[in-house]
Amino acid sequence: MAPVSVLVIGAGQRGTGYARWAGRHPDRASVVAVAEPREVRRARLAAEHGIAAGNAAADWRQLAGRGRLADAVLICTQDRMHAEPAEAFAALGYHILLEKPMAPDEAACRRIVAAVEQAGVMLAVGHVMRYTPYTRAVKQVVEDGQLGDIMSVQHLEPLGFWHQAHSYVRGNWRRADLAASMLMAKSCHDLDWLQYILGRVPLRVSSFGSLTHFTAANRPAGAADRCVACSVEASCPYSAPRLYRGLLDRGEHRWPLSAVIEDFSAGALDEALRDGPYGRCVYACDNDVVDHQVVALEYPGATTATFTMTAFSKAAGRSTRLFGTRGELAGDGQTIRVYDFLTRAERLITPPPTGGMTAADGHGGGDAGLMDAFTAAVASGNPELIRSGPRESLASHLAVFAAERARLNGTVETIPVADRLR
Ligand SMILES: NC(=O)c1ccc[n+]([C@@H]2O[C@H](COP(=O)([O-])OP(=O)(O)OC[C@H]3O[C@@H](n4cnc5c(N)ncnc54)[C@H](O)[C@@H]3O)[C@@H](O)[C@H]2O)c1
Repeated sequence: MAPVSVLVIGAGQRGTGYARWAGRHPDRASVVAVAEPREVRRARLAAEHGIAAGNAAADWRQLAGRGRLADAVLICTQDRMHAEPAEAFAALGYHILLEKPMAPDEAACRRIVAAVEQAGVMLAVGHVMRYTPYTRAVKQVVEDGQLGDIMSVQHLEPLGFWHQAHSYVRGNWRRADLAASMLMAKSCHDLDWLQYILGRVPLRVSSFGSLTHFTAANRPAGAADRCVACSVEASCPYSAPRLYRGLLDRGEHRWPLSAVIEDFSAGALDEALRDGPYGRCVYACDNDVVDHQVVALEYPGATTATFTMTAFSKAAGRSTRLFGTRGELAGDGQTIRVYDFLTRAERLITPPPTGGMTAADGHGGGDAGLMDAFTAAVASGNPELIRSGPRESLASHLAVFAAERARLNGTVETIPVADRLR
């Protein structure tokens, strides 16, 4: 079978990563064009994939204006720049891998689904957690009935103190009006994952949470607006120089350092810490997304679940406990323990190791799993291979919107029947 030809829209962290999967699997996919306004990123991706100058554009509209150049498109622009290219490329007949969130508002998510359905093209949303060997193993336990009926779920996302500071205080996802709510930007994966594992869409949701710590009110006495000029930097756990110089010194030239500098040199980092967004004091930024949040969910079958996201942790993988009528499952993203009430025996399941769960590690095999499934679906014309298609992704996005409304308004939100059934 000929490799699937793809366009990459946005040669940032995600676009570069997916393109590299294609580079490692030339029999499966080939990157034939790129759109990226930043010259350094565009040139780097074009060089890595042997893309001719005429196929390296500054804006996705230039590629869309040329009709259908490839089988598929990978849309990896920022959160608020997903809907427009998704609709345009669907109309041109491209199959689409679209990064999550589909869009930061409900109407745009629905427009994307309508566009792909009308065009008859495939859509895979970047819910990479659905594609890991770990998730496959958890789902197998659930589907085999080993737990009986799942009655309660406890799911934790210990985001981590430095990850919050990097992405959600200083970085691209710090403000809901520039990106999306925290629940949508980060934890849409979690509500989607619960929906996938339970095989059900929630009936009702409520939520509490706020931005509490990373505010001007908590700024220590003597703190400066920038860490490099700060007299109390040495005692601050959120020091930017400590985080980024540590990464540079250890040669960790990838995310999160790659979001701060393009050129991995001490001089470039000094400049970024002095002048760029990632050198700011965490108590003197323009952030507004929450630093801790809890969501309570009720599913058909009277199953209840709680989800907690917190910045105030060692950055670690998500952990889950599923409590059923016949057994209990505990998973930490790497290993799974299943306790059987009948035999009182515990079974340990260790899915094949795939590295850590961070973006730098490829999300525990999820990034590769998504590209594998998406390109196989396009090559074979079989949308069933995609586990994060338009309808299931829309349903989990709608649950996120409902939970965020519940947090903001202090309500219990009911997911409309029409959306639950789809
Ligand atoms: N699936 C996941 O687990 C996961 C993880 C991280 C981020 N994301 C999502 O992926 C998306 C991209 O995130 P990222 O970290 O790669 O961001 P990024 O900022 O590194 O990359 C986005 C790129 O899009 C480019 N761009 C801007 N305007 C453009 C245009 N008109 N045409 C073409 N390109 C344009 C930017 O210059 C930038 O290089 C975001 O929506 C993010 O929320 C998903």
